[in-house]
Amino acid sequence: RWLFSRGGSLAGKKIVVTAGGTQEPIDPVRMITNRSSGKQGYALAQSALDTGADVTLITAPTNLEPPYGCKVVAVQQAEQMHQAVMAEIKDAHALIMSAAVADFTPHTTEKEKIKKDSALNAIELDPTVDILKQVKAYKDQNKLEIKVIGFAAESQSLKENAVKKLTEKGLDMIAANDITQSEAGFAVDTNQVLLIFGNGSMESLPLMSKAEVADKIIQHVDAWLMGGAE
Ligand code: CTP
Ligand code: CA
Repeated sequence: RWLFSRGGSLAGKKIVVTAGGTQEPIDPVRMITNRSSGKQGYALAQSALDTGADVTLITAPTNLEPPYGCKVVAVQQAEQMHQAVMAEIKDAHALIMSAAVADFTPHTTEKEKIKKDSALNAIELDPTVDILKQVKAYKDQNKLEIKVIGFAAESQSLKENAVKKLTEKGLDMIAANDITQSEAGFAVDTNQVLLIFGNGSMESLPLMSKAEVADKIIQHVDAWLMGGAE
C-alpha cells in the first residue's frame, strides 16, 4: 500500500467512521452481539487516513489493531456509540456508519451471573436508538453540512431495502451488501457492494477486498468534499 499516494486531498477534513458489532450485556458474562468483524470499518479508516483526513474511529470491540494515526473512541453498547457519534459529528465533514449496531438491548443487565437453576425462559429487550436517524434530525435542526454514508446488510430484496434506508435515514450514499453471498459481508476479507446515492444513481462494484471497497467509498467522499462533479 502506498501511503499518501493520492496526495492527501482530504487534508484538513474530519471523517468519523464507526466499526464493529456493538455488545449488549445480559449479565457479567453474557451478551447479545453479531457477526461483524470490524474489517470494513477499519479499512475505511485506513483509506481515509491515506487520503490525508483526520480520522476518528468509533469502534465496538474487535480483534483488529486500529490503523496508525486515527483517534480511537472505544465503545461497547449501541447507546455508547450513539453518544460518541453525536459528540464527534459536530465538527466533522463526513460520517461513515459501518458499525453493526444492535437493534435491541436487554431491558436489564443482571449484576450477578444468571444461574442455570433460575428457570429463565426469556430475556426482555428494548429497541436501541437508530443512530443515523438521530444524526439526520440533528443535521436538519442545526443545518449541519456533513456527508453521511450508511451500510445495509440484507438477506433479501437488497436494492429495495437499501433504498428505503437511504431515504429514511437521509443518507448521501448507502453501501448495500447481500449477506447470503459467502464472500461478501461478515467476517471475511472481501466484500461486494452496491453503492446507491441520494440522487438515485447506483454503482455496482464487483467482488473486491474490503480495502478496495473502502478506497472506492473514500473516493466519493473525496469528490464531494473537494466540490467535485458529483
Ligand atoms: N444503524 C444505526 N443505528 C442503529 C442500527 C443501525 O445507525 N440502531 C445504521 C447502521 O450502522 C447502518 C444502517 O443504519 O449504517 C443500516 O443498518 P441495518 O442494520 O442494515 O438497518 P436497520 O435500520 O437497523 O434495519 P434492519 O436491521 O431491520 O434491516
Ligand atoms: Ca439493524
